Amino acid sequence: MSETKSKHITWHHGLVTRDEREAKNKNSGVILWYTGLSGCGKSTIANEVEKRLFDMGYHVYVLDGDNIRFGLNKNLGFSPADRTENIRRIGEVAKLFVDAGIIVSTAFISPYRNDRDEVRKNVGEGDMVEIFVQCDIDVCEQRDPKGLYKKARAGEIPEFTGISAPYEEPLNAEIVIDSAKHSVDECAEIIINYLKTNDYLQ
Ligand code: ADX
Repeated sequence: MSETKSKHITWHHGLVTRDEREAKNKNSGVILWYTGLSGCGKSTIANEVEKRLFDMGYHVYVLDGDNIRFGLNKNLGFSPADRTENIRRIGEVAKLFVDAGIIVSTAFISPYRNDRDEVRKNVGEGDMVEIFVQCDIDVCEQRDPKGLYKKARAGEIPEFTGISAPYEEPLNAEIVIDSAKHSVDECAEIIINYLKTNDYLQ
């Protein structure tokens, strides 16, 4: 983590604690950190999980790759340094959601292991559940929902993950799901069962 630029700043604690928020919300604050190739199904699964948890009465929010790049991270591209900064900012935002007692899902490729590990180090034990949405690149390329693989193959998109930029698979993800083998419903069930079994939901 980089040093803070400002020197004369003090951390303030509010009058409402995270425990109190979690007790009211009836769920723990936690980051569901989805990672995987473009087109692997991160957003689709994250949105399905969110809908189900919302309907069960829990407090949820999804931070989605493309959407965040329209606003908070509009000044970032896809160079290694920009991707690292993208993930650092998302990690900080997600940490605020955890403090607010919310189940926050992040759906970013987040291709670098070190970037994901930095987020994990920056939050408490158990505050980040890493979900590796595994899917063969051939399948992602066949799906190509945004037509980006085609453009990347044609050389129109430089540094495209899986084609001309790396993807580093997680070594110790809490959940690994293969979206080529499981339906979206099955993936959502696996994730929600994990949250139930590990006491994130009251
Ligand atoms: S990350 O690598 O920094 O985590 P992020 O999840 O925010 O990426 O954005 C990925 C999305 O941006 C992809 O799903 C795709 O729609 C789009 N995109 C545009 N250019 C690229 C690129 N060079 N590599 C990967 N995705 C890209």
